[in-house]
Amino acid sequence: MALGEIKIRSYDMQMDRVRVEDLERRCEVGPAEHVFLFTDTLGDPICRIRNSPLYIMLVAESDSELVGVIQGSIKIVTVHKPLKDQASVGYILGLRVSPLHRRKGIGSSLVLKLEEWFLGNDVDLAYMATEKDNEASVKLFTEKLEFVKFRTPAILVNPVARRTMHLSPDVEIVKLEIEQAECLYQRFMASTEFFPHDMDKILRNKLSLGTWVAYPRGESWDEFEPDGRVPTSWAMLSVWNSGDIFKLRVGKTPLSYLIYAKSLKLIDRIFPCFKLASLPDVFHPFGFYFMYGLHREGPRSGALVLSLCRFVHNMATKCHGCKIIVTEIGGCDTLRLHIPYWKLLSCSEDLWCIKALKNEEKHTLFELTNTPSTSALFVDPREV
Ligand SMILES: CC(C)(COP(=O)(O)OP(=O)(O)OC[C@H]1O[C@@H](n2cnc3c(N)ncnc32)[C@H](O)[C@@H]1OP(=O)(O)O)[C@@H](O)C(=O)NCCC(=O)NCCS
Repeated sequence: MALGEIKIRSYDMQMDRVRVEDLERRCEVGPAEHVFLFTDTLGDPICRIRNSPLYIMLVAESDSELVGVIQGSIKIVTVHKPLKDQASVGYILGLRVSPLHRRKGIGSSLVLKLEEWFLGNDVDLAYMATEKDNEASVKLFTEKLEFVKFRTPAILVNPVARRTMHLSPDVEIVKLEIEQAECLYQRFMASTEFFPHDMDKILRNKLSLGTWVAYPRGESWDEFEPDGRVPTSWAMLSVWNSGDIFKLRVGKTPLSYLIYAKSLKLIDRIFPCFKLASLPDVFHPFGFYFMYGLHREGPRSGALVLSLCRFVHNMATKCHGCKIIVTEIGGCDTLRLHIPYWKLLSCSEDLWCIKALKNEEKHTLFELTNTPSTSALFVDPREV
């Protein structure tokens, strides 16, 4: 198809909303043979970035037809580098080009235009996340646009069962006040890679349902008293209700998923005492909880993480339309051993790519990409 001149401009809610939603519906993300997810933004295509401190959505037009879209957000995070341990980072997401207009440079032009906006706002590093099998996206960023592969976090997904899960009577679970959660995160997670410097805003956002700590029953949690201490083993996490801003829907399901779902239903009917979790109906739009800011300390903390995850699961059973619980952790993080998830629904290696936008940051990037990843990585719920 012949292509007129490409015009890239900021998204205009009045003019573009319906066309952007239509484009999103027409775009499969990822390789055709895999399951793909559609995002239903509930009439607000900009909802995924709206909670970030600074954001933009750009659209590409050709002969007045909307042919591409991209979103970006900016924040300050912890990045271990010489002199100061922080950087202004620009996150790239939601890149879509109409299937009829691909391989004509529109995707690259949108990213380059977004990079200009990042630079105008003093961003040091740009980064993006993609499925490692998404060849088009990986090649576009790494071969065409000089991004380098950076981290491979794991996205862990657990279905919400109809029944609640057993919670160990040996574990105490307590909800923290926002100020207490903020103190704890500053004390124990501020040095974690990509920890956002506006953590207080995340915790105060209405989508953040709260922060909970778990510790062995019988020990006391007096961390917030003068001279107070944390127990010998403890764990914490916060929960973000992503389903309140957008819904997901699976567009294609591998045969294995269907066979698995059917067998589970059958076994559940014959042996109800097994209390098997049934697979959720993922073909209709559904919401999800995102667990973020997971942290643990002490020799017994693995079991405490598991208790917290079960607690969140039980919360989710009471939330209408919440079908899965998602979390994303560093690729080598041993937390994975204690978080319940279904392999079939999860992605063991998401791929983050990064690029230095300023010359003086090239050294930082070299250091970052040549040092093995510290096991912990903070994944911002606003970027899910
Ligand atoms: C990924 C996507 C945005 C690329 O858009 P595009 O306008 O086709 O990209 P460009 O024309 O600028 O391509 C630039 C380079 O990317 C690489 N590339 C793009 N599509 C590719 C494909 N299908 N296979 C292999 N490489 C590809 C090539 O190196 C290409 O350069 P070349 O055409 O000179 O060989 C588009 O395929 C898309 O919308 N996919 C579905 C949504 C998606 O996966 N988004 C990415 C989420 S992070």
